[in-house]
Amino acid sequence: MATISEIRRPVEAEWRQFERYQHDCLQSDNPLQQEVLNYIAQRSGKQLRPLLVLLAAKLCNPVTDKTFRTAVALEMLHNASLVHDDVVDSSDTRRGAPAVHIRWSNKVAVLAGDYMLAKVIGLVAEMRNIRILEIVSQLGRSLSSGELAQLHVGQSMWIDEEHYNRVIELKTARLFQACAEAGAESAGCTQRQRTALREYGRLLGLCFQIKDDIFDYSDLEEIGKPTMSDLRDGKVTLPLIIALQRAPESEAAAIRAMSEHLDEADPRTLQEIKSFVLRFHGDEYAVQRMLEYKKQATEALSVFRDSPIREALIQLLDYAINRVQ
Ligand code: IPE
Ligand code: IPE
Ligand code: MG
Ligand code: MG
Ligand code: MG
Repeated sequence: MATISEIRRPVEAEWRQFERYQHDCLQSDNPLQQEVLNYIAQRSGKQLRPLLVLLAAKLCNPVTDKTFRTAVALEMLHNASLVHDDVVDSSDTRRGAPAVHIRWSNKVAVLAGDYMLAKVIGLVAEMRNIRILEIVSQLGRSLSSGELAQLHVGQSMWIDEEHYNRVIELKTARLFQACAEAGAESAGCTQRQRTALREYGRLLGLCFQIKDDIFDYSDLEEIGKPTMSDLRDGKVTLPLIIALQRAPESEAAAIRAMSEHLDEADPRTLQEIKSFVLRFHGDEYAVQRMLEYKKQATEALSVFRDSPIREALIQLLDYAINRVQ
């Protein structure tokens, strides 16, 4: 598997420009907001979304000022959604450090996240590009709908794969889709290129969230956020959905019966559910799904001729599937 810096190589110079621009955008005249922005900037995460923006743009044409702006705006939107997400998910750790709502408070997390979203709107408005504005405004609705759809069935052990797919499409895949599509748009792509990259981004995003949901059943320390926390929070994701489907009815019923008050559950109960998932190979099924999406995403890129950038996008799919962080 290629590392992120290897995948970044064909846009190395552009990446440095992006970083400078991002640094300038992370300024606020409010001291508390500035503290929160610094805290987030010091723990910057993998920054895959701006990488996708740059790669998608340069696959079509040389990047422009709009490309950098789009990359900064979408990474900021991602960060704002994580600040809010950790409140919604009652998750205490992010990128190996206390989440913003733990370091400060829920109130600060909600307001600081809002500030960042307002900044995103400003960055996009300044671009004067109606297509990118449409992409980002639609994206805002998708992310919220996905989170609400997930909340709605929060305590249910009865959700099926179709519902799961809808949730991950909205809450995660649409952001990757927007990065690829708006990135392409920022460099003046053709309609054909735009459609191909949009589909690639969507499929990459689906892989990305499935892998994240597999992490919840793993023991990896590098992840930098708690494991078994989706389950504790009553979130049933693909590996468990499949295990429940595959298990004999009596066993599935016994697992479903444990689902009451998982937030206060004995660690042994969570461990038992984890063993159940592994015994019925729910995680392996999830890996198969990712590999199918990877194949489709690679096909979507076939409208582009072979190049180091197209290669980097294929490596990014592998990274999403095999990463440990
Ligand atoms: C976390 O995204 C949220 C999901 C969509 C699973 P990342 O894993 O890209 O988070 P950072 O930005 O690298 O921390
Ligand atoms: C990720 O959902 C999608 C978002 C909108 C943030 P998760 O809740 O699974 O993300 P992590 O695992 O907390 O990073
Ligand atoms: Mg979360
Ligand atoms: Mg969440
Ligand atoms: Mg998660």
